[in-house]
Amino acid sequence: MAPASGAGRFITFEGIDGSGKSTQSRLLADTLERAGHEVVLTREPGGAPGAEEIRRLLVEGDPDRWSPETEILLFTAARRDHLERTILPAIDAGKLIISDRFADSTRVYQGATRGDLRALVDQLHGLMIGREPDLTLIIDMDPDTALERGLARSSGEDRFEDFGADFQHKLREGFLKLAQDFPDRTHVVDGNRAAEEIAADVARIVTDYLG
Ligand code: ADP
Ligand code: TYD
Repeated sequence: MAPASGAGRFITFEGIDGSGKSTQSRLLADTLERAGHEVVLTREPGGAPGAEEIRRLLVEGDPDRWSPETEILLFTAARRDHLERTILPAIDAGKLIISDRFADSTRVYQGATRGDLRALVDQLHGLMIGREPDLTLIIDMDPDTALERGLARSSGEDRFEDFGADFQHKLREGFLKLAQDFPDRTHVVDGNRAAEEIAADVARIVTDYLG
């Protein structure tokens, strides 16, 4: 997919909880910085002060704390703040922005797994966000291993891990389907390997994309 505007590029990592997105985002940022790029590393939910406050409401507490509809509104509010204050300014300044999750997570988590709310997710995205990444790396891996890794961290941010293993299996299917729906900008990367091996694949894909 051709870059949208300006010289900046917007790259995202997606995948189930514990799949290695944060690890790979950091490794890619290091690689690109060493190659002389100006990089902004960010994450969702969060990535701007207000959005980080909303993050706490979303990732902590009881799994049933919010209805799926309320969750979609909160994630979208956080994303709008992130877009306005972090993503668009970085793109306009010609930087490479790497985000650990973005709108594809809402499509999969809220849109496909907890009731058929995908149409609502897409409508709200069109109204309030209206921007897709230039390139998306989907880290695919065995949900049971990923769940063990994620829970082993015991970060206190386990609200979604607490939905259980079946939920993580559905999420994996959701991300693989998403890759089929957006073939131009998505690459599925096998996450069942050592972090360095995965990082080498990711670096190759991104370097090819950047030309
Ligand atoms: P995510 O951001 O997708 O939740 P993380 O990058 O935080 O995933 O990784 C989850 C846990 O698994 C962390 O403790 C991390 O150190 C570990 N981890 C990440 N990548 C690998 C890998 N390839 N092999 C084994 N453990 C990994
Ligand atoms: P994250 O910190 O990336 O979790 P992890 O490191 O476990 O992958 O994201 C926090 C949680 O929020 C995660 O369980 C996925 C969920 N989430 C959604 O449900 N919808 C969204 O739009 C986003 C961005 C995240």
